[in-house]
Amino acid sequence: MSLGNNDFQCRNGDKPTVKYIPKDVSGGLTQQVIAELRREPGQVLSYLWKTAIGSARFLAEAPLTNGILFYKFMRIFFTIEGGVSLLEILKLTSLIKRHAKNGILVEVGTWKGLSACCLSHVAALKKMKLWIVDTFTGLPQSGGPFHVSEGRRRGYHFEEGSYAGSYETVSENLRRLGYANNVSMVAGNVIDMPPLEFPDGQKISLAFIDVDLPESYRGAFKALARGIDKGTILVLHEGLIDDVREIATDNAFWKTLSLPPPRLVIYEHSWRMRTLMTGLIFDD
Ligand SMILES: C[S@@+](CC[C@H](N)C(=O)[O-])C[C@H]1O[C@@H](n2cnc3c(N)ncnc32)[C@H](O)[C@@H]1O
Repeated sequence: MSLGNNDFQCRNGDKPTVKYIPKDVSGGLTQQVIAELRREPGQVLSYLWKTAIGSARFLAEAPLTNGILFYKFMRIFFTIEGGVSLLEILKLTSLIKRHAKNGILVEVGTWKGLSACCLSHVAALKKMKLWIVDTFTGLPQSGGPFHVSEGRRRGYHFEEGSYAGSYETVSENLRRLGYANNVSMVAGNVIDMPPLEFPDGQKISLAFIDVDLPESYRGAFKALARGIDKGTILVLHEGLIDDVREIATDNAFWKTLSLPPPRLVIYEHSWRMRTLMTGLIFDD
């Protein structure tokens, strides 16, 4: 994992920190945490503190059911490498428990299945089906640096083939640590995938999209369009990347999909933590 700056400029002219995500991400997470600790020890300690407080709040919300979920999440986090934080999963779980109505749960962007295993347990609790969609060969193209305008000045550069978790690895992880019975897996690149049709015309209650590249977000919106209905929530893991936000807030784009423009919710504000996670709510 290499971290560094290049000559990419922020829109306000400042030089941001650009994080280069290499092709082989595996095993690099520990180094990444160490690098972050060196660069921004205050942020890392504050994040740990917020995770402790967030975990306590999550447990207080529903001691028994959330206690069981928390235990399962901890096993998953200690076993599978992943690209989401525990605090993000806890917040996402509370959101699903509170707002997800009838319909299915979807994840686009799975890597080795960390978030998918967690979501499979939440889906089981809510008696919902979980669909997961991924190339299972990693990012389909390189891209970036992509700029984030909220908070600290930063950007991300992604490499083709990064975050490759095979279909077999994900299925095995789901069998060992998730609730595999209610999960359907779809392999393919959402950029050129025909729109997904869900059985019996079912609609999406909530979709968690974690695909890094703006073009993959555009593809995911197109692939999921037929399942989007009044009340559907799309949670974007990188929603604060400028190019992702531009697509998400482009009314003309949603019109081409015959959908009303969704309402944008920036969770960094309401959750009071550093996250790029953003909600798109179709309440019309
Ligand atoms: C950061 S990883 C996801 C991390 C995962 N949610 C976790 O819990 O660890 C990004 C994933 O998005 C997938 N992806 C990116 N672009 C895609 C596309 N166009 N079609 C399908 N999958 C894509 C990659 O294969 C990769 O598995």
